[in-house]
Amino acid sequence: MSDIRIATAEDQILLDKEAKYCSYGDTVHYIEPPRIFSRCEGSYVWDTEDQAYLDLQMWYSAVNFGYANPRLNNALKQQIDTLPQIASQYLHKGKIELSEMIAVDAKKKFGLDGRVHFNVGGSQSIEDSLKVVRNATNGKSLMFAFEGGYHGRTLGASSITSSYRYRRRYGHFGERAQFIPFPYHFRGPKGMTKEEYGSHCVQQFARLFETEYNGVWDPKVGSSEYAAFYVEPIQGTGGYVIPPMNFYRELKHVLDQHGILMVSDEIQMGFYRTGKLWSIEHFDVQPDVIVFGKALTNGLNPLGGIWAREELINPKIFPPGSTHSTFASNPLGTAVGLEMFKMTNEVDYGAMVMAKGKFFLEGLQDLQKRFPIIGDVDGLGLALRCEICGPDGFTPDKATLDYMVEEGMKGDMVVDGQKLGLILDVGGYYKNVITLAPSLEISYPEIELGLKLLEQLLVRATNR
Ligand SMILES: Cc1ncc(COP(=O)(O)O)c(C=O)c1O
Repeated sequence: MSDIRIATAEDQILLDKEAKYCSYGDTVHYIEPPRIFSRCEGSYVWDTEDQAYLDLQMWYSAVNFGYANPRLNNALKQQIDTLPQIASQYLHKGKIELSEMIAVDAKKKFGLDGRVHFNVGGSQSIEDSLKVVRNATNGKSLMFAFEGGYHGRTLGASSITSSYRYRRRYGHFGERAQFIPFPYHFRGPKGMTKEEYGSHCVQQFARLFETEYNGVWDPKVGSSEYAAFYVEPIQGTGGYVIPPMNFYRELKHVLDQHGILMVSDEIQMGFYRTGKLWSIEHFDVQPDVIVFGKALTNGLNPLGGIWAREELINPKIFPPGSTHSTFASNPLGTAVGLEMFKMTNEVDYGAMVMAKGKFFLEGLQDLQKRFPIIGDVDGLGLALRCEICGPDGFTPDKATLDYMVEEGMKGDMVVDGQKLGLILDVGGYYKNVITLAPSLEISYPEIELGLKLLEQLLVRATNR
C-alpha cells in the first residue's frame, strides 16, 4: 500500500467515531483511511483541507450532470417550497408528467406502449422488475444474467448478480440466475473479430434450447423454465465492457423465439452516459423492461424505477399495491427527474456526449501507445475504460491499479501550477479496469487535465 496522506486531527476524530458507531456493511473502504469530503461543484470535490480532486467517476455515474448542477438544484429547492411531501397513495403532477415523458419517449424509440413505476434506489427497482417478470410468467423465478453483471445487493438483485461474493453469507431467497458469458472481446478467444465473437456467444446460448437435456427448455410444450434475461447493455461494475453492435439483436431473436423477456438494467448506463437516454438504444432491439436509478435525479434523491411494456404492467396484470413503498414517487425526486428530462431535451445531449467521448477516447488511445501497461481502452459516449495490465499488456494487474487509485487520492499532483487529486473508480472481472464516468458537463480543458493527471499516475506506476 502506498503512503496515503495522514488524516487531519479533525478528520481523525470523525474516523474514530465512524469506527465506533457506523456499520461498515453499508459502505466500502477502498482506501485507508477513507477521505472525508466537505463540498463539491461541477467535476470537482474538495476534502476537509480544501484540496480539490477532479472526479472521473461521478458517484458511480449518479451525478451525470455535474455536482451541484444549478438548474437541477433549483428544481429541488422550488419543490421544497411548494409540495415537498405527500404520501405515495396520492397523486402529484410531477409523478404523472415524468411517467409521461419516459413512456412517450419509449413509444417513439421502441414503438411500444408502456408504463412507468417508481421506487427508491436501483436495487429496489430491480426487485420491482423481478416481480413484474415473475408475475407475467406465472411465477417463474429463474433468470438468465451475464458473467460480470451487477444488478445490486438486495437479496433478489444479488441473486442475479454474477459475484458469488455478494451472496456467500446469506443463502438463497428463491431467485436464481444462470450466468452466461458476455462478449468481452479483449479477453475472448483469439482469432475472432468482435462481431464474430458476439455471434459465437449468442450461438452458445442458443445451444441451451436445442434439446430438453440442456436444462432450460421443454420442447414438447415450447416453454422455458426461465422468465427473463437481465442485461446491462454496457457492463458497468464488470468494467465498462462494450459488446459488438450485432450482439443484442441476435440475442433478442433467441429470447423472442423462446418466450423469454429482456430486462435492460440502465441504472448505471442510462441518462446519456453512453450518448443515448438508454444504452440499449445503440443496439436496435426492443427491451421488455427498462430499470433505471442513479442519474435520474443527478444523485439529489434516490428515486429509481422501471418502464415496462403495457402487457406486463397494466393495472389488470400488476394491480395497485404490487410493490408500494412509502418513498416511491416522492415529489422531490420526481421534480428533479422531470427537470432533468426537460434540460436534456433542450440541447442535443447525444451529440455533445459522443463528441466529448471521442475526444477523451483519443486521449486514452494516445496514452495506450505510450504506456505498455494499458492493455485495452474503449468507450461509448462518456462511458470509458482503461485496462491496467502487466508489461505484456494483457495479464490483469489489480495491484498497480490500486496503487494508481491511492496515488490519485493523495491530492499531490501538479498540473500548470495547480495542485490536484484524481478520483478514479475500479471495475472489471479482475478489478484492473479504470471505469471512467466523468460528468457529461465536463469541459474539453477538464478532459485534457484528466488525461494529464492519468499520465502522471501512469508514470508513477511505471517507475515505482
Ligand atoms: C447496473 C447496476 N444495476 C443496479 C445497481 C444497484 O443500484 P443501487 O446501488 O442504487 O441499489 C447498480 C449500482 O451500481 C448498477 O450499476
